[in-house]
Amino acid sequence: MLTEEEIMKRIREGRRFMHMYDDRDPDYTTDQYLNKPQPPLFKEPVSDTIISLPRDFTALPVDSDFLHVINSRESHRVYTEEDMSLLELSWLLWCSQGVKDMRGKKYATLRTVPCGGARHEFELYMAVNHVEGLTRGFYHYLPQNHSIEMLSACEDLSDFIDDTMNGQTWACKSSVIFYFDMVAYRAEWRYGIYAHRIALVDAGYVSQNLYLACTSIGLGGCAIGSIREAKANAAFGLDGEEEFIFLAHPVGKISAKDKQKELDFYAFVHDYDDED
Ligand SMILES: Cc1cc2nc3c(=O)[nH]c(=O)nc-3n(C[C@H](O)[C@H](O)[C@H](O)COP(=O)(O)O)c2cc1C
Repeated sequence: MLTEEEIMKRIREGRRFMHMYDDRDPDYTTDQYLNKPQPPLFKEPVSDTIISLPRDFTALPVDSDFLHVINSRESHRVYTEEDMSLLELSWLLWCSQGVKDMRGKKYATLRTVPCGGARHEFELYMAVNHVEGLTRGFYHYLPQNHSIEMLSACEDLSDFIDDTMNGQTWACKSSVIFYFDMVAYRAEWRYGIYAHRIALVDAGYVSQNLYLACTSIGLGGCAIGSIREAKANAAFGLDGEEEFIFLAHPVGKISAKDKQKELDFYAFVHDYDDED
């Protein structure tokens, strides 16, 4: 058990972590300013099974009423287990990490989300459960040419999902779970000891775009901070030090009929109301 004193120490460390350019830190120069080589902007594929994703989204019934999308975004934890189409998956990946342009020939990618220093330090990995035409298993998004690579097949993902979602078993019915991988040095090259604070802010934009992309085409999803990363790192071939999963986001088909089941997740709230 952590002692009261240890808890307070960890809380102070956590608060300090949120400060940028902390006056208590000695002067310090990051690798970018020391002219050290820039790390690659993308990971190269490791598999021979590459699947190109469709880029023409005109066939998707996208809700283009911005205010409606903003107002109707919510977390969904009840899914129908129907297949998501490849075009829908393509839309979600494009909206959350798609590359629109380059800054310079190779300095940075410009994407559908903002990012501190345009470092785009994340890779998106996926556990694909119910996607039309895709074998169930583990995949990786290749934003450099808007495609995915299949890493390995897995006939039954339930144990993997249950474990990596820290027992949030409802996620087993999702169509796909996005796992956010931090490629640490991509951000550290520019921001050094402050990179991790910036990265967590960056992740919020990716996750929010994913939420809004889901809402705009009638899918449901939920950001998941309470994860266990070890099995996910192993499935995606990440060493857990230079690269590691730190956030997840299941997405699935939803039905208005399940509204009550969604509300049941928050049944405990009434205990607080009853205290009044
Ligand atoms: C960073 C982050 C982590 C979250 N982690 C979890 C989680 O582990 N489990 C869960 O059921 N919901 C999780 N959520 C969803 C929140 O519970 C949800 O956003 C909040 O209750 C507000 O509901 P709304 O998204 O429908 O507006 C997370 C959301 C965020 C942004």
